[in-house]
Amino acid sequence: MKPLITALALTLIVSTFSMAAEKYDTGALRTVQKHCTSCHGTPFFQAKQIDDSDWKFFFNTKGELEKIHKDKPEALASLASPAFKQKRNRILKFFIENSMYSGAVNGCDGNFCGTNH
Ligand code: HEC
Repeated sequence: MKPLITALALTLIVSTFSMAAEKYDTGALRTVQKHCTSCHGTPFFQAKQIDDSDWKFFFNTKGELEKIHKDKPEALASLASPAFKQKRNRILKFFIENSMYSGAVNGCDGNFCGTNH
């Protein structure tokens, strides 16, 4: 019984630490940086422009993202890219977690530092 409890405690400690290390989804950030930043500014800036319910609306209303970008071929290509399609749900989560009223403030790190594009 005791080794099991120790193993459980260890798992908990390790998972708590790994959660603390990952403050946001780096893969989602990189994909947004590649496909949206040229027009919308950095991923954290873009996330802050609208609130969580707006993000859900734009991502969950079928064809909405394509509709607002209909005159922007570059944006349509981004939306159709395999990377965006594959990470779509993770990107939505990233935007919601960093949205207008989320209170999330990101510091400077290896992926992102202030206004770099
Ligand atoms: C070529 C430039 C361009 C690219 C690339 C682009 N967008 Fe946009 N996007 C725009 C413009 C311009 C608007 C404003 C349209 C309007 O208000 O009529 C817009 C509006 C939006 C909106 C509506 C809310 C708002 O802020 O006005 C969302 C959501 C959005 N874009 C998401 C994305 C995402 C996600 C990507 C990356 C996959 C992306 N865009 C890539 C130009 C772009």
